[in-house]
Amino acid sequence: MSTDIAIEVKDGVQIVRFLRAAKKNAFTGAMYNAMSAALIEAEANEAIAVHLFIGSGGVFSAGNDINDFLRRAEASGPAGQGGIPAPSLDFIRCLPKVTKPMIAAVDGLAVGIGTTLLFHCDLVYATPSASLRTPFLDLGLVQEAGSSILAPERLGYPRAFELICLGEPFSAERALAAGLINAIVPAAELEARALSAAARLVAKPRQALLTARQLMRRRQGEISSMIDAEARCYAELMAAPEAREAFTAFLEKRPADFAKLRKPRA
Ligand code: COA
Repeated sequence: MSTDIAIEVKDGVQIVRFLRAAKKNAFTGAMYNAMSAALIEAEANEAIAVHLFIGSGGVFSAGNDINDFLRRAEASGPAGQGGIPAPSLDFIRCLPKVTKPMIAAVDGLAVGIGTTLLFHCDLVYATPSASLRTPFLDLGLVQEAGSSILAPERLGYPRAFELICLGEPFSAERALAAGLINAIVPAAELEARALSAAARLVAKPRQALLTARQLMRRRQGEISSMIDAEARCYAELMAAPEAREAFTAFLEKRPADFAKLRKPRA
């Protein structure tokens, strides 16, 4: 397994820990593949009742690795090879199919999939420094992971539009007020708080827990169809010059210049 991620099972909890702090825990293909495999294998594993996602180094995740995005954008073209990198899309497609509760413990930045993953989690604990943001549009892209449905549903349309279309960061306080997180806890207590909630879920009658969750998340088919619709839009946009400019600008540490890509008026 990649050293950028550690996955262990302890007392009924599958703990998925992001360990790529030097790159703000941006997700690589290997990290996505490890997470997808862990989620899929856990479905049939009675030793696992709950999943817990947690970051490291004061960061949850900076989202998809932009180098992978750029490689994908460069592969885009008439043959339609582009779009969300396959490991990332495989992981996203797993999310609505997970039947066991998922908990997230968010310290610091949660960007892109670092935020949209939270819509699939059942409990989210965050530190005062948590900052949730989805800069998809600034990258020339659109939202993913079914957040076209889940964000307006969870936050209400006006706040979802601010998050997704303005790319506005949501502080821990704002995320709490918006119903995106359960509680704000000091960084030193974050993991213990998430594990304690997980332990309470592990102790519940398993079938009743899974059934209760399934009843509350009964639109899996609709979310999965939206994930596919979002992925088609993503693929089109990723092949466009704006996305390439945004990825290159990030990696060259300069602001993106979208104006230069616009055709002058005749
Ligand atoms: N993909 C690839 N590398 C990333 C990354 C990402 N998503 N996010 C951060 N990194 C890398 C940086 O390139 C930098 O690498 P370097 O040290 O080799 O130069 C390192 O992680 C530290 O990031 P840096 O930008 O210096 O930290 P910061 O604290 O100033 O800013 C962020 C942190 C997360 C705000 C900023 O890195 C950022 O905007 N990242 C991109 C987030 C994003 O757009 N994700 C995709 C969403 S769809």
